[in-house]
Amino acid sequence: MKKIQIINGPNLNLLGKREPTVYGNTSFEGYLNELRAAYPTCEIAYYQSNIEGEMINKIHETGFSFDGIILNAGAYTHTSIALRDAIKAIDTPVVEVHISNVHAREPFRHVSMLSAVCKGVILGFGLDSYRLAVEAFVKE
Ligand code: DQA
Repeated sequence: MKKIQIINGPNLNLLGKREPTVYGNTSFEGYLNELRAAYPTCEIAYYQSNIEGEMINKIHETGFSFDGIILNAGAYTHTSIALRDAIKAIDTPVVEVHISNVHAREPFRHVSMLSAVCKGVILGFGLDSYRLAVEAFVKE
């Protein structure tokens, strides 16, 4: 059984309601049910916070015992050296994901503080970005 932690950052609790043309109409909880059903050999834990320090606490809590962390840090991706340091501090590999193709959006979204310390980056595939990240850990 692979243990995978999904961490979603700020404003991602509003998925399904927030800017649906960019992020779609599906709530993350609905999508998560499908994802768990599709990967019965994985234990997929889910955490969302709008608060940077709480995300860091979750990275510390799971970063020495889980097989993988899937992190969509939302806008903190583009600003947070503290999240970058947290990823560097742990043993568990982290895959950075984004729902949208951040490179096709505003220039400030083209920069990630996190990518260089992550195992890999998956972006632009809508919510399927998370499934592709699970797939990457399953294939390891
Ligand atoms: C996002 C992209 C970020 O630029 C944005 O701030 C988000 C969501 C995405 O999943 O596409 O909140 O991480």
